[in-house]
Amino acid sequence: MNKILVAVAAAFVLVGTAVAAEAGPATMTFDTKNGKVTFPHKAHQDRLKDCKVCHADEKGGKIAGWSKDKAHGLCRKCHETEKKGPVKCAECHVKK
Ligand code: HEC
Ligand code: HEC
Ligand code: HEC
Repeated sequence: MNKILVAVAAAFVLVGTAVAAEAGPATMTFDTKNGKVTFPHKAHQDRLKDCKVCHADEKGGKIAGWSKDKAHGLCRKCHETEKKGPVKCAECHVKK
């Protein structure tokens, strides 16, 4: 019994680090002068199932030229097209 538990726990640790190393953070916060934008990265990965919707390749990482225009073109544009997700300024930009 104990041996099985240890094996299961070890498997979780291995899977956990492998995913964390590749997948990026579960949630990201972009600090802008219009307030903080919280981005549920993991929820988008799970929903979209394709890193290349946003990234150059399936490894992810920094997005070249990440900026206001890039963010609005990517984030808001998709929410508008899908008619799902926040599109109003204050739905993304939350002032403290
Ligand atoms: C809906 C868009 C979107 C999807 C889909 C997405 N990401 Fe990201 N990801 C981002 C954004 C935005 C950033 C921040 C980019 C920046 O700061 O330049 C980011 C950053 C990252 C980072 C770097 C995190 C850091 O600490 O700098 C990694 C790693 C990453 N993503 C991996 C992935 C992988 C792997 C997938 C697919 C399983 C994926 N992402 C899917 C939007 C997305
Ligand atoms: C390719 C499409 C796509 C892109 C790109 C995208 N989103 Fe979304 N997002 C969605 C969809 C679809 C939903 C709604 C999910 C639902 O309600 O079932 C959503 C929901 C959200 C939500 C509401 C919380 C949640 O998880 O439901 C936030 C906040 C959000 N997105 C922020 C962002 C930000 C910030 C970016 C850019 C860094 C971004 N999204 C890029 C498709 C996208
Ligand atoms: C879907 C989410 C989303 C919506 C809706 C949205 N934004 Fe943004 N906005 C972002 C993200 C993410 C960034 C950060 C890009 C970065 O990190 O450079 C940003 C950046 C900005 C910046 C740059 C701030 C700085 O400090 O450089 C301004 C200004 C801005 N947005 C204004 C607006 C206004 C005005 C609206 C409504 C018309 C709006 N945004 C709607 C997500 C959104």
